[in-house]
Amino acid sequence: MRKTDWFKEMSFYQIWVRSFKDGNGDGIGDLYGVYEKLQYIKDLGVDGIWFSPLYPSPNADFGYDISDYRDIHPDYGDLDQFKKVLNEAHRLGLKVIMDLVINHTSDEHPWFRESRKGKDNPYSDYYIWRDRPNNWDSILEGKAWEFDEVRGQYYLHIFAKKQPDLNMDNPKVREEVKGILRFWLDLGVDGFREDVINFISKKEGLPDGLPFVPVVNGMPHYKDGPHIHEYMAEFRKVCEEYDCFQLGEGPMTTVKSALRYLSGPEKSLDMMFSFDHMMADCIYTEYVHRPFDLRKLKRAFSRWQRALDGKAWNALYLENHDHPRIISRYGDGRYPSLKRRVPKFWKESGKMLAVSYIFQQGTPFIYQGQELGMTNIRLGSIDDYMDVSSKTNYHRYHLKDSVEERLKRIHLSSRDSSRTPLQWDDSENAGFSAVKPWFFVNPNYDIVNAKAEEEDPESILNFYRKCLSLRKKSKILIFGHYREFFPGDRHIYMYERSLEGERFLIICSFSRSHVRVRIPGEYAGIMKKGRLVLCNYPSKGTGIFRPYEARIYRF
Ligand code: NOJ
Ligand code: CA
Repeated sequence: MRKTDWFKEMSFYQIWVRSFKDGNGDGIGDLYGVYEKLQYIKDLGVDGIWFSPLYPSPNADFGYDISDYRDIHPDYGDLDQFKKVLNEAHRLGLKVIMDLVINHTSDEHPWFRESRKGKDNPYSDYYIWRDRPNNWDSILEGKAWEFDEVRGQYYLHIFAKKQPDLNMDNPKVREEVKGILRFWLDLGVDGFREDVINFISKKEGLPDGLPFVPVVNGMPHYKDGPHIHEYMAEFRKVCEEYDCFQLGEGPMTTVKSALRYLSGPEKSLDMMFSFDHMMADCIYTEYVHRPFDLRKLKRAFSRWQRALDGKAWNALYLENHDHPRIISRYGDGRYPSLKRRVPKFWKESGKMLAVSYIFQQGTPFIYQGQELGMTNIRLGSIDDYMDVSSKTNYHRYHLKDSVEERLKRIHLSSRDSSRTPLQWDDSENAGFSAVKPWFFVNPNYDIVNAKAEEEDPESILNFYRKCLSLRKKSKILIFGHYREFFPGDRHIYMYERSLEGERFLIICSFSRSHVRVRIPGEYAGIMKKGRLVLCNYPSKGTGIFRPYEARIYRF
């Protein structure tokens, strides 16, 4: 049994190491750079770090294609350097969680190299081989099946071609997973973020998927598959021996299916990353873009808040390495101007977005650079983009459109926007590296950077620090119940957190104009009687909210 639910009071910082900080001068972020910056992470006020994959990988999907589960990619250091980072993080009171990617490996993993050799190989059934493919599309790169000349069969890859899916029905594969868990737990890590964990059990016979639905047509046959909860229970058992923490990534999960993982007799995860709230301006993030709709965002937030209250615990986030920067989507960056290098209300909207999610019930996650208000990049040609899905989308979805039109969509949707080097200062290469970095630096680094923001008491960085410290000090903000007001309002997101009669009211304007804010009857007079504990404008406001204004009142 678990000793504690220690993760509930925490907040986490996500590191996508390649772009975090180059410590050894080769232009690639690494664990030497992480070591240098642990104090910065601690000072932000978080309590833990989630590392996106650090393992050896040919980088077809930047680390999510693993070729060795028990080592560190030579670009990032080695196991000794990892242990150094882990010890220092622990000394600073930071937990460390690793990314566990077990739906697939790299095609360069020794298991796959063996498996391709033939049907009588000991690794033959480690992957999913068929003589004839079904009609599934992959999520990152074309059809979900690739013919292998050596074996003379097709293998399944739900993601990129170089990411063959493991056959989790094979007990030997599950034993391997348990060995990997133990390897990292024995080293001292505190838990795992489990990549596309709801996809690991596939329906028997792999039936054809939905006709006329692109990209996710096979999903009904691999999401929450027939044996998922049995397999999850096996992994949970190992994790319980170590009292470690498990956070699943649940693409396209619904509240109902998430609750099976998060509560009740089958509980196998402590939290799950859901995606509903990341679709207030699109469907499936990368694919179809729509104008931002605040009501859609609020519906998603509130659905998860209500359903999990008292039963399970939310993982709160607005950014990670899979989504473009949030200011460019839900903040003022959604009104792009080629004349400005940061949006007009860059600071205001960046801070308001922090308030919109950090004070919900759950554990907040902050993605590297989010705390600085980093924004999307615009690259001149599709050849400049690095991510496999940017390339696929450019070629697959927008063929009818002009090059400009297709690039515009890529600017809006590319995962590369969250993968540019972190902006540490205004020196060359944004202080990320002494040499030319592996990927483009966002040209706004002279404005958006950690050094400038350290020095500015009104910066987005300092505002994130205030938010995290306010949350940490208040049981109401951590454990309190959630209630939303005026869900139909198109500009204002208003919610309450309450515990044993004490209340906070959180009000966020998503408008770039001034708007009058309605106040619920029970909060009448709050602007005079309540105590304003946080606001993203330096001067006191009125009943009319300024562009992207956010306020928190204690009542
Ligand atoms: C989710 C990861 O976050 C993403 O970066 C990756 O492409 C897919 N899973 C496949 O591993
Ligand atoms: Ca380096």
